[in-house]
Amino acid sequence: MLIGIPKEPRVGQTLVAASPDTVGKLVKLGYDVCVESGAGDAASYPDAQYAAVGAAIVGKEEVWGADIVTCLDAPADELGLIKSGATLIARMNPHGNPELIEKLSAMGVTAMALDMVPRISRAQALDVRSSMMNVAGYRAVIEAASAYGRTFAGQVTAAGKVKPANVYIIGVGVAGLAAIGQAGSMGAQVFATDVRAEVADQVESLGGTFVEIPVKQESSDGYARALTEEEQALVLETYTKQAAVSDVVITTAQVPGRPAPLLITEEAVAGMKPGSVIVDMGASPLGGNCPLSKPGEIVVTDNGVTIIGYDDLPSRLPGQSSQLFGQNIVNLMKLVTKAKDGIPVWDMDDEVVRGMTVTLEGQIMWPPPPVKVSAAPKQEAKADAAAEEPVAEKSAFAKHWWKALLGVLAVVLIVAAPPSMASHFIVFMLAIVVGFYVITGVSHSLHTPLMSVTNAISGIIVVGALLQIGSDNPVVMALSFIAVAIASINVFGGFTVTRRMLKMFERSND
Ligand code: NAI
Repeated sequence: MLIGIPKEPRVGQTLVAASPDTVGKLVKLGYDVCVESGAGDAASYPDAQYAAVGAAIVGKEEVWGADIVTCLDAPADELGLIKSGATLIARMNPHGNPELIEKLSAMGVTAMALDMVPRISRAQALDVRSSMMNVAGYRAVIEAASAYGRTFAGQVTAAGKVKPANVYIIGVGVAGLAAIGQAGSMGAQVFATDVRAEVADQVESLGGTFVEIPVKQESSDGYARALTEEEQALVLETYTKQAAVSDVVITTAQVPGRPAPLLITEEAVAGMKPGSVIVDMGASPLGGNCPLSKPGEIVVTDNGVTIIGYDDLPSRLPGQSSQLFGQNIVNLMKLVTKAKDGIPVWDMDDEVVRGMTVTLEGQIMWPPPPVKVSAAPKQEAKADAAAEEPVAEKSAFAKHWWKALLGVLAVVLIVAAPPSMASHFIVFMLAIVVGFYVITGVSHSLHTPLMSVTNAISGIIVVGALLQIGSDNPVVMALSFIAVAIASINVFGGFTVTRRMLKMFERSND
């Protein structure tokens, strides 16, 4: 089948839905590809680069008349150029676009909404929202750094000490996480807040400090719910205090299907230091996270605070964004072209494909059945289990009886053992107790170094056991053999796990 990559019709759009690299990958999946002349110019992808990987360079009519058309957003004027029975793959905002759905249905088109990819791990590779928000979060930091009149990193110079900038990020979704990583890598001290308490670990793991707020939500789908009036008043107080001690504030908070929530009030802006910068990623004509931001513009307040309201952050990195967008399309086409024969199979039993299907050969499929998503299922499952638990709290004895039993056994063993062995048993028992508390107390993030240490200990055990394995005493020999076997499992198992982990970071060539 022929895939068409048009020049984006929206004025000022610098992105294109495929880079030469991703066109090459579509060709490898068995598709013919045509690209509208000049489609990649603004992203620095000239026609010749597309032609070099096998694409035909064509005009507007031909590209929109392809079997499958993939572009950034569903077009308005060009919709009529799409042929009946063709497939359109683009962002469509079907929630807010019922007329578009009707039109697509009447045209007999199959329409796949790229902005409706379910938020589940398996679907991340084809989620254009994640790719674009990720770029936007990065770019928000770059814009802030460029408007801020100082360095982000602290320095000790001959002329004196420079303090690092304090960057405060409100909303730790995809864009927020990217912003935390970028600001941290530029040397800033990063603070971040979200109403979803479960993201605190993610903030810490990126080197940021999670600022607690008085409202905590448990989210099962990765999205926040709107706050009540009282909750809103409580959180605004925290945001205002934190903004006053921050040099840069980046607001990324959003609640699906709602206007951007208010985060930085006029009063909070008035309390900020001259020279500080706000990037309002939610800036929109409906009002952003800050009421003073203007979409697409930079505003400087009377007290010298710069408020950046750019609403086209991914378009400010057109080459990168187009490559990522195109790769998301490739990942979608891989999912539906398992035979690599250039013919997509839109499997409605696949929850990812079903979730993004707006129309199928003209039949309206929107809205899809809800998808079970996985932001915090474990806690939920635990909470459910706890709710069903008939006994409210187990007694201390019920929880710890086995430790008491082990203690008694240890004492019996030490008393009954020959005097020459007693001291060995004491050391052995103490090692078990210390090992138990050390290992269970180590945080998950330190398990890899812990594994290295246990491997080293296993090495020592193997050496000790090998020295004893030639003993005349069959019991000693048997115990040595068991020790070598068990310690070897740890050593070789550790290597195998490490190997598998490293493989996850290897680049694949396709
Ligand atoms: P996301 O849904 O992944 O993250 C939003 C986060 O905000 C969630 O973690 C949510 O829990 C949190 N949140 C919601 N209400 C909150 C509140 N009152 N206080 C604190 N946290 C709150 O969204 P994503 O993908 O990170 O996008 C962030 C924003 O960036 C969106 O508003 C999006 O429209 C915007 N955006 C802007 C661009 C631009 O060029 N300016 C480009 C791309 C995205």
